Amino acid sequence: MSKILYIEVSPRKDRSASIEVAQSFLKAYQDENTVNQTETLDLWELKLPEFNGDTINAKYRVMHGEDPNSEEIAAWEAITKYADQFKAADHYLISTPMWNFSIPYKLKHYIDIISQPGLTWAFSPEEGYQGLVTGKSATLILARGGEYSSSDELAAMDFQKSYLEMILGFIGITEIKTILIEPTLIDPETKTQAILSAIEQAVAHAKLL
Ligand SMILES: Cc1cc2nc3c(=O)[nH]c(=O)nc-3n(C[C@H](O)[C@H](O)[C@H](O)COP(=O)(O)O)c2cc1C
Repeated sequence: MSKILYIEVSPRKDRSASIEVAQSFLKAYQDENTVNQTETLDLWELKLPEFNGDTINAKYRVMHGEDPNSEEIAAWEAITKYADQFKAADHYLISTPMWNFSIPYKLKHYIDIISQPGLTWAFSPEEGYQGLVTGKSATLILARGGEYSSSDELAAMDFQKSYLEMILGFIGITEIKTILIEPTLIDPETKTQAILSAIEQAVAHAKLL
């Protein structure tokens, strides 16, 4: 059985371009695979723990092989839960809008929670950094008002695609399919065409998985 973890980031729900394309992906995947499991994380519903001083202290204790105190243990357990849930999936579907040339803060918060030493990555002086989430794949559905793939100058401003692909690779997920929905803010017709083109790509990719 292949388990998909769907991470939904747009707060716009039925007005969201990225969610519309992700739903087409999931439907195509479900039609193709009779036995499958999809877990959805709506990052606007999820009450993620704060990444605060206790959590950071716990993180450094883990990195330095030291014993954490009781507050640090509690903070570490709270984030371990999310990292374990993340690692239990076989395929990741992340649909997100671009906000200020990058990702919405809700997704950055989630990444800050799950990107942890000993849980999703490891470091040793001999081997350097090593991703621990291996043997898995991801589909990224990225909506943006501008057309960042249209020139090198605009592509250099796109920290949504580059950051997500880098951080997933860092934790070990190197098989990544990125589907762009762009531009969505020029006019309604152009937006509709961008969504239809992305749906076509998403459905074709879902059928290959
Ligand atoms: C707070 C905010 C910031 C945004 N920043 C950018 C941006 O930097 N570049 C861009 O091209 N579009 C930007 N947009 C537009 C969205 O990326 C675009 O409308 C996208 O299609 C929204 O996806 P969604 O419909 O799935 O929410 C921004 C939108 C919002 C609400």
